Amino acid sequence: MSSEKPVILTCAQPSGQLTLGNYLGAIRNWTTLMDDYECFFGVVDMHAITTRYVPADLRANTLSCVALYMACGLDPHRSHIFVQSHIIGHTELAWVLSCLTPIGELQRMTQFKEKAAKLGFKVAEGDDEGVRFAHEGARAQATINSGLLMYPVLMAADILLYNAKAVPVGNDQRQHLELCRDLAQRFNQTYSDTFTIPEAYIPKSGARIMSLQNPLAKMSKSDENTQGTLFILDSPDVLKKKIMSAVTDSGSEVRNADDKPGVSNLLQILAAVTGDSIESLEASFEGKGYGAFKQAVADAVIAALEPVQTRYQALISDKAYLNDVLQKGADAAQKRAYKTLAKVYRKAGFVERPRS
Ligand code: TYM
Repeated sequence: MSSEKPVILTCAQPSGQLTLGNYLGAIRNWTTLMDDYECFFGVVDMHAITTRYVPADLRANTLSCVALYMACGLDPHRSHIFVQSHIIGHTELAWVLSCLTPIGELQRMTQFKEKAAKLGFKVAEGDDEGVRFAHEGARAQATINSGLLMYPVLMAADILLYNAKAVPVGNDQRQHLELCRDLAQRFNQTYSDTFTIPEAYIPKSGARIMSLQNPLAKMSKSDENTQGTLFILDSPDVLKKKIMSAVTDSGSEVRNADDKPGVSNLLQILAAVTGDSIESLEASFEGKGYGAFKQAVADAVIAALEPVQTRYQALISDKAYLNDVLQKGADAAQKRAYKTLAKVYRKAGFVERPRS
């Protein structure tokens, strides 16, 4: 693989099973980049411990995520697939970057506020010095941790450690990418030019797939209401059931409109899966009603995921092959990571480690 190519890095969190949102908003898009870029695809297990988790599930979800990456079309011969905790440098760089990050910037991040609110923390708005949290009970105090606050700094470190030029992500990661760019600029200004300022690369269709049960919230692997989430590995029966019982809107017109979030979401899904335009889909379902429309969405999603599921079953049962992929991925990732880390440590004023 030529090291002349510009570098792309992107990752997913193994905090659950991957969803159709991860596939359409992210992974499918990544598969188109492997020839033109040197691609690093990470499974960020260290991010996944920022919320409550079960170690055995994390281990299983991490390997499942690696197998799914490949089942979705990521090719380990044309890219580097790695697990974050295998690489020395992510948390080390995160520490250096955290010393350039005011706490208030982290407290204002939308995803932090959403996750904190889920844990029972109330966020006080309009506070320029940083958001204050009104603790609501002992449970919240026991469950919120500083790792959750630091999450975007670790994410910035993931990207900057590889000096990535572009980061393909779904729409929900836009704000994290902005912080990463700010931190890269701040480091470059504080020390000297070191980091490439990474660009977000967000697909035109599928960048924001919403929950089938609450089309105002994004489809998420950690949603408690699993009926709203289509998992890539859901059986055809389950996919069909979830899609047929998706929340729609009053009326019967299949139209993409702000007052029709449920139908619009299904239209986005169908457009992303088939490659057809929203307009042509609206025209083809004119006068047909929601039943036929949902059936078509279910058929298209099942057909798109079936080959992925078949490939996945073969991959997940071949642990030796998965290990081999991860070993090669880790070797390439570590080489690049050490190079950046050495440069960062030198610029930060750390004395070089004596060699024997
Ligand atoms: P994660 O694991 O939530 O999602 C992985 C990728 O899937 C996209 N995505 C979606 N796209 C469309 N519709 C949805 N409903 C949807 N849900 C998720 C995400 O935008 C993402 O591209 N913080 C990151 C993981 C991360 C990372 C990084 C990403 C850690 N370090 C460095 C890029 C670069 C996350 O939680 O993604």
